[in-house]
Amino acid sequence: MSRIVLGVGGGIAAYKVADLLRKLTEAGHEVTVVPTAAALEFVGVPTWAALSHRAVASDVWAGAQDVPHVRLGREADLVVVAPATADLLARAAHGLADDLLTNTLLTARCPVLFAPAMHTEMWEHAATVANVGTLRGRGAIVLEPATGRLTGADTGKGRLPEPVEIAALAELLLHRADALPHDLAGRHVVVSAGGTREPLDPVRFLGNRSSGRQGYALAAVAAARGARVTLVAANVELPDPAGTEVVAVTGARDLCDAVLAAAAVADAVVMAAAVADFRPSSAQDHKIKKDGSAPAPIALSENPDVLAELVARRRPDQVLVGFAAETGDAAGSVLEHGRAKLARKGCDLLVVNAVGDGQAFGRPDNAAVILGADGSEQAVGLGPKTVLAAAVCDAIAARLVPPGAATR
Ligand code: CTP
Repeated sequence: MSRIVLGVGGGIAAYKVADLLRKLTEAGHEVTVVPTAAALEFVGVPTWAALSHRAVASDVWAGAQDVPHVRLGREADLVVVAPATADLLARAAHGLADDLLTNTLLTARCPVLFAPAMHTEMWEHAATVANVGTLRGRGAIVLEPATGRLTGADTGKGRLPEPVEIAALAELLLHRADALPHDLAGRHVVVSAGGTREPLDPVRFLGNRSSGRQGYALAAVAAARGARVTLVAANVELPDPAGTEVVAVTGARDLCDAVLAAAAVADAVVMAAAVADFRPSSAQDHKIKKDGSAPAPIALSENPDVLAELVARRRPDQVLVGFAAETGDAAGSVLEHGRAKLARKGCDLLVVNAVGDGQAFGRPDNAAVILGADGSEQAVGLGPKTVLAAAVCDAIAARLVPPGAATR
């Protein structure tokens, strides 16, 4: 169990933070909610108290004998601020301490995760840009807002990242306080995720069991580390990670086109998608009916190998990452198969995980070994998929050529 301070800013997205609070408490954490006075205009004390099962701390003057403005920050393992409004970001950047939340931000020595929400103009204003830069420069994690419908009829960048994503990144920081440095700023990372579907007829397809969770975790973590992320998503039913550009695809050939187009200008490409090696040679344009005779066999054609195409076109300074879901068999262990595949595929890194027996697919956790073409081998124990994602981002960051340096 960890101690989390959940600072709530005065924005309409405060109502979504009630759901975030629920997710954090259901994960077993002790959460103290510290709303600003403006936040309480949107969502009142009883909601925060009931969902956190704790007294709500909103006032520096209440319970002064416990010195709450110092104690809360000192005792916290993590501070999450959501929604982080333009005003709250400004006060935090300037070190103001005019309410309990900003006092807490000054006394906290744990990771601080800001999840902003505001109108696009406010997010893009030079003052906010400077404040976000200041906070990131000091090591705070400031997520990019999500893009979509805002409070009014307008759409744009400024929505609160989804509570499920904030909760996942919070969990990551509790596992590893140093998991989200802003070290991918200025980099473009392409991630493929999900499982391709190849049509047999208008209602049926050949597919696989990939949920896209690992690829989405990678995209979210890379974006939180400052990367511009293009997420090529094959049939994934998860909310778009904040700050990423999602390109939806269905089949292997669409996925190949989308990944290769984005990869032309990318610093790193992570192939987390489960790409079908084969597709039905022809898709019927009408539903296949049973007519009493023996069913016709399905003829298959080979799909492009996207990773092989990437390797063939790679720039010398580009980092290419493959995934391999393996099972051990008589011919070798999971890792032996992984090493052989890394050599065969020619990528820089191969993330090898064991599948079968309910492991990996559709689950929130994963365990893997990250194999490097340089002979490195890093085991990541069973944990949230964001933890593996952060380890993959570490390995990518370590292999990226610093801007201005000669290429490999
Ligand atoms: N991959 C790809 N294009 C394909 C198939 C796979 O880019 N047509 C990528 C996957 O996204 C993954 C890596 O290659 O990053 C390894 O996938 P895997 O299915 O394990 O590789 P295969 O070469 O198909 O090997 P196997 O014969 O074991 O299926």
